[in-house]
Amino acid sequence: MRILVVGGGAREHTLCWKLAGEAGIRQVVCAPGNTGLSQIARCVPVDIGDPSAVLSLVEREQIDLTVVGPEFPLTRGLANVLAEAGHPVCGPTREAAELESSKGFAKDLMARHGVPTARYVICETASAALDTLRSGRFGYPVVLKADGLAAGKGVVVAPDAASAEASVKHIMVDRRFGDAGARVLVEECLWGREASFFVLTDGARAAVLPSAQDHKRAFDEDQGPNTGGMGAFSPSPLIDGAMAGRILDEIVFPTLHGMAAEGRPYRGFLYCGLMLTADGPKVIEFNARLGDPETQVILPALGVELLPLLIDATCGRLASGVCRVRPERHVGVVLASGGYPDRFETGHVISGLDAAATLPDVMVFHAGTAQVGSDVVTAGGRVLTVVARGADFASARERAYDAVSRVSFDQMHFRRDIAASLS
Ligand code: GLY
Repeated sequence: MRILVVGGGAREHTLCWKLAGEAGIRQVVCAPGNTGLSQIARCVPVDIGDPSAVLSLVEREQIDLTVVGPEFPLTRGLANVLAEAGHPVCGPTREAAELESSKGFAKDLMARHGVPTARYVICETASAALDTLRSGRFGYPVVLKADGLAAGKGVVVAPDAASAEASVKHIMVDRRFGDAGARVLVEECLWGREASFFVLTDGARAAVLPSAQDHKRAFDEDQGPNTGGMGAFSPSPLIDGAMAGRILDEIVFPTLHGMAAEGRPYRGFLYCGLMLTADGPKVIEFNARLGDPETQVILPALGVELLPLLIDATCGRLASGVCRVRPERHVGVVLASGGYPDRFETGHVISGLDAAATLPDVMVFHAGTAQVGSDVVTAGGRVLTVVARGADFASARERAYDAVSRVSFDQMHFRRDIAASLS
């Protein structure tokens, strides 16, 4: 088979790495890919936000199956365009991807189908949001969410009225996230432990992938601004078999049935961001894709081949069940450009990549990198994810940080406490 993976980050590097060695794969093509990906896949520069450009690539390259990594092409209707042209694609339609692209749609769907989540109000204007806050209905801290896609930055946990009201202005009046902030959700703050639960679904059935936890804040001890994720580990010790069963019964299947009943069958990867509360698991958010950096630890942890699952999900013949997970633990540390998630420099030469990647049980996945002559240089905020496996979290962590110590670039920044609470 000829597979196309759409995207160019460390998540897509990991998808290609997992698929590249599997039975039945003739070639992995990646659009647009990145420097690391070009060692294992044929990278083709394409505007992945333009579905017709990707369709041309699929036809030109005689692709048998397309797997979409990021949410943006899905919200532009890439899965619709490929499916309408008769090309198998693993990823939800634009309508189904609204589970991620409209927080309000997702909350209303959960309300209609009895999926546990935080109480909320959707506010169409800044004055409605201020009235909701001043009603005292949710108390403090309170959660404010931009309705649309905001690159992981559109959620604020406001500790008091002053910061909540400033955030309303920031999102709805100043339009810090553009039209994504045209509507705001005001939500009660949930208390508990966060974990990420992933399934691959054909719309009715769900294959459960390894679970994970990520570290979203920029600095150690969960300080600093929210990022796309500074590290992750898998599996989450919070999700045992009984909890996985509850999440499937109370969250995943009611959501899939609700989406199908409302004429938006959901196919592809579904990422459930959960708060495990004293009242059971509740949805913080859905994403219409795999997580980043969670993918970098869950696919190495997956104990079965991915290709047969992708084919079955795409053909509508997936078997529900929990996929076999490797016995080891996996820890991933993101190496970022200094200043990320705010302003950062690019173009710094990266050294030590081979020294890290050739260590046993270590994988180095590229995100923001570029080839300049014989050098690999930084080209983004999150530059690399260094992943290691070990018999337990302590040894996986030690191995990951040993590999991290071999890599360097000017202003390199990383957290030193990924999975530290488990060691
Ligand atoms: N790590 C969070 C996300 O992928 O959205």
